[in-house]
Amino acid sequence: MKAMVMQAFGGPEVLQMEDVPVPEIGAGELLVEVKAAGINPIDYVARSVGGPLRDSLEKSLPAILGWDIAGTVSKSNSDLFQIGDKVFTLSRFPQITGAYAEFAAVPADQAVLMPASLSFEEAAAVPLAALTAWQSLVETADIQAGQRVLIHAAAGGVGHFAVQIAKYKGAYVIATASAHNAEFLESLGVDEVIDYTAQDVGAEVSDIDIVLHALLPDLRESASWPCLKPGGLLLSLLGPVPAEEAAKYNARAAQIGVRPDAAQLAEIGKLIEDGVVKITLDCTYSLEQVGEAHTQLAGRHTRGKIVVTIPE
Ligand SMILES: NC(=O)c1ccc[n+]([C@@H]2O[C@H](COP(=O)([O-])OP(=O)(O)OC[C@H]3O[C@@H](n4cnc5c(N)ncnc54)[C@H](OP(=O)(O)O)[C@@H]3O)[C@@H](O)[C@H]2O)c1
Repeated sequence: MKAMVMQAFGGPEVLQMEDVPVPEIGAGELLVEVKAAGINPIDYVARSVGGPLRDSLEKSLPAILGWDIAGTVSKSNSDLFQIGDKVFTLSRFPQITGAYAEFAAVPADQAVLMPASLSFEEAAAVPLAALTAWQSLVETADIQAGQRVLIHAAAGGVGHFAVQIAKYKGAYVIATASAHNAEFLESLGVDEVIDYTAQDVGAEVSDIDIVLHALLPDLRESASWPCLKPGGLLLSLLGPVPAEEAAKYNARAAQIGVRPDAAQLAEIGKLIEDGVVKITLDCTYSLEQVGEAHTQLAGRHTRGKIVVTIPE
C-alpha cells in the first residue's frame, strides 16, 4: 500500500511516499481502508521535534503519522463491525497508528459508525479535535447551563467544536479570534467575540467560570487568569499548570491530554446527526501533499479543520 512515511524529525520533506506492507490486524482490531485523515497540531509537532511523543517516535522511526481516520472496514477481527461499515476514529493516540496510508489497523473498541450525513472528509475532521473539546468542557469541567465560558482559538479545530458543545450545554460563550472570524463564530452561536489582535482579553473579559486555554502557556498571564472568577477553572491544552500559579489567582487548573473514547465519539456523532454540531473544513489536501497541510496548520490561522484525502 502507499503511505506517507516520516523518515526522521525535520521539515515537511521528511514525509515521503513509500510502498509498505498492509498492516496485520490482531484480535479485536479492524483493517480500515482510509478515505480521509484529519490533521492536528500534534502531527506537525511530532514530525518536527517530537514534542510529547519524542521518546516513542525515536524508537519507531521510520513511522507513519496521523491519528484521525475515516474509512471503510475491509477486514474485521471483532463482533463490533462488519466488512463495509463506514467508521471514524481517534486511533491509539498517543501511540502510533498510521493514518497517512491507504490502510490502517484500528482497535475496534475505539471506532464508531460514521454519522450517515457526513462525507469521509468531514468525518475525519472530527475525532481528535471534538474529543479534546468534549473531554475538556464536559468530562473535566462538568460545564453547566448559565456558566460563563471563555474559549480561546475558537475558530480553530478544537475551538469551533468547543463553542458548539458549550452552547449545546447552555453556557454563555465568549470566544477569542481575529476580526475576520467574528461572523463565522457568531454563526456557531457564540455570544461575544473578542478580537485578540486589537483588544486586551485580560482587561475586557471577567467573571468567567471556565476558560479553555488552547494557547501557549506564556499567554495564561495576560489572556486567561485575569478573566476567571474566584474558584474558576483553567483548562490547559498545552502542558501542566503549576499549583502555585493557579493559587496566585485564587483559581483552579487542569491539564487535558486527549485520549480515544468511542462512547464520547458516538455522543458527538449523534449531535452531528441532529444538526447541533457542524463541521467546518478549511481545506483538503491529497495524501502526497500532507507536508503542505502541516505547513498550513502550523501557520495557526486555520478556520475549522484540514484533512487529507486518499483516493481509491
Ligand atoms: N492537550 C491536548 O490533548 C490537545 C488536543 C488538541 C489540541 N491541543 C492544542 O490546542 C491548540 C489548539 O489546537 P487546534 O487544533 O484548535 O489548533 P488550530 O486549528 O491550528 O487553531 C487555529 C486557530 O487558532 C487561532 N489563534 C491563533 N493564535 C491565537 C491567539 N493568540 N488567540 C486566539 N486565537 C488564536 C486562530 O484564529 P485566527 O485565525 O482568528 O487568529 C485559528 O483559528 C494547539 O496548540 C494544539 O496543540 C491540545
